[in-house]
Amino acid sequence: MITRAPIAVIIFCAVIIQAVDKSNFKTCSQSGFCKRQRDHKPAESQYRALLDAVEIGPSAIKVHLVNKQNSAKLLLEVFALQDNTVRVKINDLEPNKLRYEIPVGDVLVQEPQQASLQVHSKDSSHMKLKVQDNTVILYASPFHMDFLSSDTPVMSLNSQGLLKYEQYRSKSKNEAAEDKPVDGVDENPGEEQEKEEENTAEEPDMWEETFKTHQDSKPYGPSSVGMDISFPGFEFVYGIPEHADDLALKSTKDTDPYRLYNLDVFEYELNNPMALYGSVPYMIAHNEEKSVGVFWQNAAETWIDIRSNTADRGMFSKLVDFVKGDDKIPQVDTHWFSESGIIDMFIMLGPQPKDVFRQYGLLTGTTPLPPLFALAYHQCRWNYNDEHDVASVDAGFDEHDIPVDVIWLDIEHTDGRRYFTWDAHKFPHSDEMIRNVSAKGRKMVTIVDPHIKKDSNYFICQQFQDRDLFIKNKDDSIYDGWCWPGSSYYPDFTDPKVREFWASKFHTDEYKGSTNDLHIWNDMNEPSVFNGPEVTMHKDAKHMNGWEHRDVHNVYGLYVHRATYEGIKLRGGNNHRPFVLSRAFYAGSQRYGAVWTGDNKADWTHLKISMPMLLTLNLVGLTQSGADVGGFFTNPEPELLTRWYQAASYQPFFRAHAHLDTRRREPWLQPPDHKQVTREAIRTRYRLLPYWYTVFQENEATGMPVMRPLWVEFPKEKETFRIEDTFMIGSSLLVRPVTDAGMTSVSVYLPGQDQVWYDRDTWQMKNGGQQVLVNVNLQKAKNMLSSQIPVFQRGGSIIPQKTRIRRSSILMADDPYTLIVALDKKNALSSFSWKTDFLSFISKRQQGHAKGDLYEDDYYSFRYKNGQYIKRRFTFANSKLSSSDIHSGGISMKSNAWIERVIVVGYAQHPSSVGLSTGSKQSDLSFDYDSERRVLTIRKPGININEDFTITVQ
Ligand code: NOJ
Repeated sequence: MITRAPIAVIIFCAVIIQAVDKSNFKTCSQSGFCKRQRDHKPAESQYRALLDAVEIGPSAIKVHLVNKQNSAKLLLEVFALQDNTVRVKINDLEPNKLRYEIPVGDVLVQEPQQASLQVHSKDSSHMKLKVQDNTVILYASPFHMDFLSSDTPVMSLNSQGLLKYEQYRSKSKNEAAEDKPVDGVDENPGEEQEKEEENTAEEPDMWEETFKTHQDSKPYGPSSVGMDISFPGFEFVYGIPEHADDLALKSTKDTDPYRLYNLDVFEYELNNPMALYGSVPYMIAHNEEKSVGVFWQNAAETWIDIRSNTADRGMFSKLVDFVKGDDKIPQVDTHWFSESGIIDMFIMLGPQPKDVFRQYGLLTGTTPLPPLFALAYHQCRWNYNDEHDVASVDAGFDEHDIPVDVIWLDIEHTDGRRYFTWDAHKFPHSDEMIRNVSAKGRKMVTIVDPHIKKDSNYFICQQFQDRDLFIKNKDDSIYDGWCWPGSSYYPDFTDPKVREFWASKFHTDEYKGSTNDLHIWNDMNEPSVFNGPEVTMHKDAKHMNGWEHRDVHNVYGLYVHRATYEGIKLRGGNNHRPFVLSRAFYAGSQRYGAVWTGDNKADWTHLKISMPMLLTLNLVGLTQSGADVGGFFTNPEPELLTRWYQAASYQPFFRAHAHLDTRRREPWLQPPDHKQVTREAIRTRYRLLPYWYTVFQENEATGMPVMRPLWVEFPKEKETFRIEDTFMIGSSLLVRPVTDAGMTSVSVYLPGQDQVWYDRDTWQMKNGGQQVLVNVNLQKAKNMLSSQIPVFQRGGSIIPQKTRIRRSSILMADDPYTLIVALDKKNALSSFSWKTDFLSFISKRQQGHAKGDLYEDDYYSFRYKNGQYIKRRFTFANSKLSSSDIHSGGISMKSNAWIERVIVVGYAQHPSSVGLSTGSKQSDLSFDYDSERRVLTIRKPGININEDFTITVQ
């Protein structure tokens, strides 16, 4: 029997703000499979690969693995995939019950394209395979595999012998006597299975498990799978969000393993490996020479242990074969285990960061270019109370000359938390309200959660129930859990029929009182169940085809996100780009829109952790990600809120949000000095929108993250491998937010020995490869149009921006561009010397270089997919700036935007003239030169952005 916590307790938990109650969430020692897998210690593997009977195909091999102790048999498949990627799958050889595999198309975009695989050598002890430039060596006994990228060992599987695969079976005779047979499990297990049972000690939590008042019936018994993955030559590993922890993952020797299990955690604690709202079982290892990635495709609860022979010096257990005995070579050992499903790994062999991002993008997709408004500023709180409130917030931005693109409504806008409805008293004319907001080019977002109020008079509940679309208990009754509306049912989003029906509900004919300018927020989709175990769904609840919730838990949120995205897309005739924010996520969620880091707190530590959390999300493809500005719980002091705005204006998804019990904090409610700086931070975001848009387009095309750890751009520079307080947006902007109170200056590491950087406030040039101290005094900022957090433009880059800030981003669509050309080191010399001045003097031709791209389209539709966009490359070389078309074919697009100004920073000589030449005309341009700052401002080239041109500086 499933037990339920008393309702009084639930309401208390839901409403009262408190620090995380750790006792609500399992530790590894409270989870049966985690304990069993973690107790499996490094030793020689029990498995032997039968290489004598290997099946070899053009791009894959199949080998049987036999457990030496109990003769259990597994099937190992190794596939060579396109673009330096290898898939390794381990499944039952003869399953007596199928194991869950995520359908192709749901997490993987499609069946991965196979590549050719050559058998280089083979005998009964090992087999050497060639996959493009890589080598895979499979050892028979003990079974393990090594991966070499251009002859360098980079990864090893099962070198510590931790492959542990719990096969489905029936209960041992004693225990089975008490229970009736379980559906789907063979009652007459074969010889292998019986042998295995003889050798596997029964543990009390194998067949049922209790946590607090909750019982998990585990009708199919233990079913976990686990394996070790080592990274020889690496000291740093990244990824596996979501955790409120550092960018560079830590050893878990003295903690629990990192846990991946989508959970609704109230006021989460920082710097620990506890699970949070989303899970992406994808890790990247990086060193000065190579980057590699591994994606563990499994939708069940997963834990990952990490050991490092540098971090855990002296504690290291066993090195892989090729580095045995050489303890100078760093190595990270990881151990992955999931409660059910199969072992299905994708190994991306890089060899550089950009390759790994592309390889992962080919498998799970990239973020489709968001509509422009999604990249602008969003104003949210729980809740804007009624239509009047919305109108006054909307007007407040105009009054205070602060741009905003989206106003959000949380759960209180509904009729009793029945999603797709409106509170008739507070929002009687919701469509008119949305139209008033959208008249200024703005949008609205409402929340639509996946828990459906149990109410036979509620049309959504009724329609889903009539069609039998809800998740069931193990006894086939409808699963009933407690969430915001009280007793609720949960649609089974794993079922395509359910997703299709859900998607149809977003049409404006169905979602009454909405318009096409309304976009959607999916919250609580872990799913959150206030009275469930660990605030989520019981693992023995049943989904489509009888799969247990245990099998699919971590992909539930992705499916909710997807169904909503498809609904909004459908509503716009498949031609309007949707915006959907989701709290829960899995690998592949990036294809459906944005995610955020959930219920953070108005505290400096939470501002600080937003950087590594978002960097990690960006590394695993979730590029449209942000953290609640100001902190969700409690009230930020003005300085914290101001610093938060400054930081978040350089984070990909920029939304202010706050809990119901907090004081109002719209930007203009800040004290005047702070208001000015906050306004400036938001306006800076709008100034840089052309750059953000271009970087997001690059992300869709190449998989390159939007917000990048420094090592992504400076992969050979070890100093950068741990840095998480400083990051890049695209390849050209370096940002170091201020995340401590009372700071008047901060130290920033500028990477790159051959690199120069320009302070975006002063255009002062700094050499790379050093720490610099930057003034960040908020008091001084009052009268300056200054970002006052360190932001540097990389020498050698060109950034497009706009200077006329309007009420919303779309109103700036036709506004002119300013190009900021930041010259590279060549001649952008930091100090005068006879030599450098002399060199500049004798050859202006040696002025520095720079290049950068600009992407533009209609900012809202999918027409760009048919080639209706503009892509230009600007190049500055030999004192000439030129613009060329880099559109990759198809129809282009006409733009009304033109170039109004070019600012060349780091230009070493006073020019005598500046001339413009286009296909049709030649003219002189006026300019200013600031010799002290070395800034050349070229005025009014007046060229349409579509045109090719050259500007020559003499
Ligand atoms: C929890 C979400 O994390 C938060 O952002 C939201 O305001 C509340 N649910 C109410 O919907």
